[in-house]
Amino acid sequence: MKHFLSINSCSSQELLELLELSIDLKKLYKSNKRVLCLAGKSLAMIFEKPSLRTRMSFQVAMTNLGGASVYVKPEDVGGIGKREPLKDMARILSGYVDGIMVRTFAHETATGLAEYASVPVINALTDWSHPCQAMADIMTAKEHFGKIEGLKFAFIGDGNNVARSLAFGCAKLGMRIEIASPAGYELDKGSIERANAIKPGTVVQSSDPIQAVKDADLIYTDTWVSMGQEEEKAKRINDFQGFQVNMDMLKAAASHVRVMHCLPAYRGYEITDEVCECENSIIFLEAENRLHFQRALLKKLMSSN
Ligand code: CP
Ligand code: NVA
Repeated sequence: MKHFLSINSCSSQELLELLELSIDLKKLYKSNKRVLCLAGKSLAMIFEKPSLRTRMSFQVAMTNLGGASVYVKPEDVGGIGKREPLKDMARILSGYVDGIMVRTFAHETATGLAEYASVPVINALTDWSHPCQAMADIMTAKEHFGKIEGLKFAFIGDGNNVARSLAFGCAKLGMRIEIASPAGYELDKGSIERANAIKPGTVVQSSDPIQAVKDADLIYTDTWVSMGQEEEKAKRINDFQGFQVNMDMLKAAASHVRVMHCLPAYRGYEITDEVCECENSIIFLEAENRLHFQRALLKKLMSSN
């Protein structure tokens, strides 16, 4: 495993090992022990979009492992692929740092960097996928339920980058996911076919959120307006009516159901404040696990021991 660009290009074994390592390192760090396996190493962190969780958790994870991180704003370097070709940027950064993390619009920016970089490239969200998020989510499910095999996610809302990565993660790791979306916002058929080719029956696309949550172990939602879609905000809010995760929806689910959201949550839109704060919500454990998963990922990709 050289890069971490998409869950569907990792093997189930690699993903399981990453989950185990994440949980082991979490225990170690919680008991104030440290593994300084990245001492003297550096990570470039390129952000074309805003971030709280991803930026903080990658930076802290690098520090935890004894390394350093350099935050790069595209406007400071004249834009990605604008002041100089992407392939030059990839090779220049490879001469300075030991890993590159990128949050960008076009997925091809991340894959293009990976093609020319001689160091590992990590996808920290593109319009197409958010694999670090999905792995932290699955880690959270494993911690909460003590297993992942056989669990069912009900993903309510936009068939977006987060839904896609979760679908691939479910397929690789033996979980199921029903995505309930309004017409026109379903996960694309190609991604559903790819996930179901990995494990038949993994992904079901529907349009009935209440039906979807009935036999779910986890209810998941994300913003109706992803970064870069701000101009569509009014139309999207209108189109997603009936897809809010609220207490009525929770009542249709089993009492053991847990609620997840990659965050930031737009309370009053895709989820209510009451649901975020209720005892079924594990959103803050989920957010914390971004750190624990990424610490393991950085160790796996960037450490020789
Ligand atoms: N969930 C997530 O990626 O959050 P940020 O956008 O704050 O990094
Ligand atoms: N789907 C959202 C996720 C934010 C973490 C977005 O792309 O903006």
